[in-house]
Amino acid sequence: MLKEQLKAFSQQPTPFYAYDLSLLRQTLDTAKTEAGKYGYHVHYALKANANSPILAEILERGFGADCVSGNEVRRALEAGFAPEQIVFAGVGKSDAEINFALDANIFCFNSESVQELEVIQELAAAKGKFAQVALRINPNVDAYTHKHITTGLEENKFGINVWELEELLPQFAVWPNLKLIGLHFHIGSQITDLRAFENLCLRVNELQNWFEERELIFPHLNVGGGLGVDYRTPEENPIADFATYFGIFERLLDKRPGQVVHFELGRALVAPSGNLISKVLYMKHGQKTNFVILDAGMTELMRPALYQAYHKIENLTSDLPAKTYDVVGPICESTDCFSKAIELPETKRGDLVAIRTAGAYGEVMVSEYNLRDRVKAVYLS
Ligand code: LLP
Repeated sequence: MLKEQLKAFSQQPTPFYAYDLSLLRQTLDTAKTEAGKYGYHVHYALKANANSPILAEILERGFGADCVSGNEVRRALEAGFAPEQIVFAGVGKSDAEINFALDANIFCFNSESVQELEVIQELAAAKGKFAQVALRINPNVDAYTHKHITTGLEENKFGINVWELEELLPQFAVWPNLKLIGLHFHIGSQITDLRAFENLCLRVNELQNWFEERELIFPHLNVGGGLGVDYRTPEENPIADFATYFGIFERLLDKRPGQVVHFELGRALVAPSGNLISKVLYMKHGQKTNFVILDAGMTELMRPALYQAYHKIENLTSDLPAKTYDVVGPICESTDCFSKAIELPETKRGDLVAIRTAGAYGEVMVSEYNLRDRVKAVYLS
């Protein structure tokens, strides 16, 4: 299938990202339908992939934008997202970024610390503006995912700790330019054990009760993103299980009357539709292993080197009997390895390979290390 779709790009120099826009559309439509059943608002997390053709598909379906830098806010605005569809999170927003977002009149700052709230207050006051804020609370819920992409435990740098809340609340009386409109949570990414979301719901319920005892009921509740995708067998599960995911929140979350529930999905919306296409430069026979040396490396897709992440690799050229290989990149680092001891059809110099499920946290994390050329993208419709 991918092989057929790529025929139109036979002259495209490798490596390059190939995005399957028809799978992307199906994924977005499914997510929209499932979220729509309960009136949920989905903000797409731009950090997963901020390419314009992808943002255009997302915008067309009425999703909002979840940004974590001033430049992401700028990109979202340029792509056509309305300011009132934009939320801005992140543990270290600079004054310039906050000012930019204030000037743009975004919907909400998801604030991660008391110190940051003070700065937003000061900067908003200086402009005579009012900023809507949500408190990102660290719920201390385990996401059962890779430790490097867990965010909701007390040992992580993210969010305001529950024990800080009692002291924080009276501060809003002296922060006249801040309007507290909601609570925000995000416990981690690539979550495949959905019990983590069940636990999150229960924790959010406890916290909502705690606030209600203090006579605070918020119009907005943002439960973050994190839904995982199937990296091992992408052809079996090309679209994440949005029905079960949103169903958990509908079943377990105690919504207050009129309360709007927001989600911030990144990976589950865009990962499966992206593939990194690369050419085999050399076959090298080691003492114990046969190496496939690709023209793409950790500079084009950092996830395997950074998180030992698995991406399925396919040889698009060969259909010879399988052999065992280590598939590596050309970068001068031993961690520049995509996969060890995998079975591929017998591979030769010049074969084309696809590194699958690379649409999220692939191209956005590209680096110029070794002064590599910036990888290009093509769009398959
Ligand atoms: N909201 C917040 C506050 C986040 O920090 C993130 C992701 C998301 C939403 C979107 O999460 P998603 O639905 O995509 O799981 N580079 C790593 C993933 C880092 C995720 C960072 N935060 C990777 O390649 O696995």
